[in-house]
Amino acid sequence: MSHRIAAKITGVAGYVPPKVMTNGDLEKIVETNDEWIRTRTGIRERHIAEKGTATSHMATEAAKSVLAETSTDPADIDLIVLASVTPDMFFPATACLVQERIGAKKAWGFDLSAACSGFAYAMTVGAQFVGAGTHKKVLVIGSDTMSSILDYKDRATCVLFGDGAGAALLESAGPNEGILDFQHDVDGSGGAFLYMPAGGSLHPASFETIEKRMHYVHQEGSQVFKYAVRRMADMAAHLLEKNGFTKDDMKLLVPHQANLRIIRATQERLGVDDSKVLVNIDRYGNTTAGTIPLGLRDAVEQGRLHKGDLVLIVTVGAGYTTGGVLLRWAY
Ligand SMILES: CC(C)(COP(=O)(O)OP(=O)(O)OC[C@H]1O[C@@H](n2cnc3c(N)ncnc32)[C@H](O)[C@@H]1OP(=O)(O)O)[C@@H](O)C(=O)NCCC(=O)NCCS
Repeated sequence: MSHRIAAKITGVAGYVPPKVMTNGDLEKIVETNDEWIRTRTGIRERHIAEKGTATSHMATEAAKSVLAETSTDPADIDLIVLASVTPDMFFPATACLVQERIGAKKAWGFDLSAACSGFAYAMTVGAQFVGAGTHKKVLVIGSDTMSSILDYKDRATCVLFGDGAGAALLESAGPNEGILDFQHDVDGSGGAFLYMPAGGSLHPASFETIEKRMHYVHQEGSQVFKYAVRRMADMAAHLLEKNGFTKDDMKLLVPHQANLRIIRATQERLGVDDSKVLVNIDRYGNTTAGTIPLGLRDAVEQGRLHKGDLVLIVTVGAGYTTGGVLLRWAY
């Protein structure tokens, strides 16, 4: 059964901090090289937040841009759903910080944690309120400051990620526009392969957790890689087939940007050429919850999305979480 939600994206915007860290810069920090990073991941550079810039700041910039782009009065926002694994603090929720900074006086809001599937999950959750008719304008944000939890002594993880945020405005949709279907799933057995061990209630911060470098991303890259290749491809093919579409009906695939090889494997499975796939990992790396809105923003800016186009979003992230959203672009 398809999960139609009568909600559509009416604007999308993004923000990355100005400081760029190239592969060459990383060569000076860890034992790595530009050639390895480019051929194994597709990444050339990523943006890194300056000290003092947090997830809320990037989220606020992205939110302000989408409000400006859609000429929306912040006081008209009903709800803010913010996806992140790097909130400013445990509490208050980063959504609350953003609510105050953008002046969304009547909005309620909360954070949602689904790692790299965060934006797809947040979009689906936020859209439910629009589809139900109880909320008119919902702001969905994906924002992550991955540099704050990266171990710059671990070459296998620190080269992969960057900082960034994106935001989309959701409003009610007509019959053949907006979210046509979505499918999300979780495989909790993947929790052991991509996680940050300390800082939560299991291992609160202590001298020991710091000494053991437990406040950083830990990953078994090859395990995550294999899972992501299989699930991204399966999810993409499934959502198209289930809705009676073929690859030819799809205008653009906007996949999570974790590794160019994962993206290409997904693309091969669907049998589509590069013109139908949004890739920006070369410039941003993996910005976790930021990749999908930044991808949509880039697609709009590059003139690759028009009203009526069929767009497929697919994500895999820590958890494991898998997300897929099929939508008909509405502007
Ligand atoms: C991390 C990843 C790029 C590693 O690529 P890979 O082809 O699997 O490489 P391996 O992990 O097998 O490592 C191969 C070799 O490169 C080395 N290596 C790892 N990182 C390196 C780096 N930055 N520079 C140079 N060499 C590196 C390893 O130490 C290993 O050396 P060894 O063979 O002497 O032990 C890849 O597994 C990946 O992208 N995984 C998924 C990550 C991801 O998407 N995470 C987020 C999910 S949303």
